[in-house]
Amino acid sequence: MYLAENELKVFHNISLLYPLAGPKLRKGEAMGKLSPLKDAYIVVGGGKVKEIGTGDAYKRHGRAELISLEGALVLPGFIDSHTHLVHAGSRENEMRKKLAGVDYLDILKSGGGILATVRATRNASFQELYREAEGRLKNMLAFGVTAVEAKSGYGLDLETELKQLEVVRKLNQNLPQTLVPTFMGAHALPEGYQSRKDFLELMKRVLDAVKEGRLAHFVDIFCEEGVFSAEEAREFLGHAQAKGFGVKIHADEMNALGGAAIAAELGAVSAEHLLNSSEEDLRKLAESETVAVLLPLTSFYLNKNFAPARKLIDFGAAVAIASDYNPGSSPSENLQLAMQLAVLKMGLTPEEVLSAVTVNAAKASGLHSKGSLEPGMDADFVVLAARNLDYVFYRFGINLVREVYIGGKRVLRREP
Ligand code: NIG
Ligand code: FE
Repeated sequence: MYLAENELKVFHNISLLYPLAGPKLRKGEAMGKLSPLKDAYIVVGGGKVKEIGTGDAYKRHGRAELISLEGALVLPGFIDSHTHLVHAGSRENEMRKKLAGVDYLDILKSGGGILATVRATRNASFQELYREAEGRLKNMLAFGVTAVEAKSGYGLDLETELKQLEVVRKLNQNLPQTLVPTFMGAHALPEGYQSRKDFLELMKRVLDAVKEGRLAHFVDIFCEEGVFSAEEAREFLGHAQAKGFGVKIHADEMNALGGAAIAAELGAVSAEHLLNSSEEDLRKLAESETVAVLLPLTSFYLNKNFAPARKLIDFGAAVAIASDYNPGSSPSENLQLAMQLAVLKMGLTPEEVLSAVTVNAAKASGLHSKGSLEPGMDADFVVLAARNLDYVFYRFGINLVREVYIGGKRVLRREP
């Protein structure tokens, strides 16, 4: 696209910029090897990055609009690659049970957990679901999140699964962030069903409607003891692939069922959770192009172990870090806190975590024009009240975002 000089914007006075230029999937060592630019600028036109540079070379764009970012740290917009964004109701009633030692899967077995949210979501109108999810997206934006993967899975019937995905579509149209819809009808066996086989057959019919309405890019399944077995996951995801969907899997969260290996075998775009995967399966994942999406807020909130992030990276895997926002196991939109836990509790470096919420998260979400700031990529970036990357992790629990830009437009300004 040809753009006249006066249609360009130059963002200058950036003390430190991490463009994440280079590979669009960062595996192993590459996750930690970034090349930040000091005294940098970004030239934007038509919503895209046109040029990245340092010093005063930007001055040759004499007629462009000049915007000073006041010596800030600038990072690509954070991408939250695993959320259960759209649902009704809340589950604070489960918190004390959880603290008294009742297991997450036992709460589900007794008709609570996911099934409680299913009842609330079935009873909610489109407008109610929309308004609640919109509020969460606004919270995410304040934390610097410019793109969000959003799973269905609180309907478990035709009508409500479609309703959730239609909410995602409308939010995508109306809000500045980009949303990536994932169909997760295979999230739990709903009340009234005895046979998992019958239920998965129903979900295949729902999948046809999802395809017909172009309502999702990906299909996900909860592969877990007492939920769906490894065999069921392999078969269901294989079916989704044959229909043209990319696939994801909730794998080895509480029990090692082999979900990570299934992801590698199928060429899934991501395998998520992975708290209890066997070493052999982690190696299979590391050899594949499948992104390991790790969710430290869930481990923190459920008081479980953290996923073996260090091991995965040392084996050569591509890791992403996401919030897993949902009303049961991670009721928080704070991706920055997830990033901080990844450094403070999982042994990742700040550079690795930055790769994990930008390029690798973009890959896990199928967002080919996002995740890095290079010519041709979307001009989505976050301006932080920090002078260096370490500070973002050191000042944990504090939101350091000052401004958020999406497609070169400022969509948020706040005083941290
Ligand atoms: O990713 N593990 C399964 N699904 C969600 C939790 C959903 C819920 O508890 O409502 C998760 O943690
Ligand atoms: Fe999840």
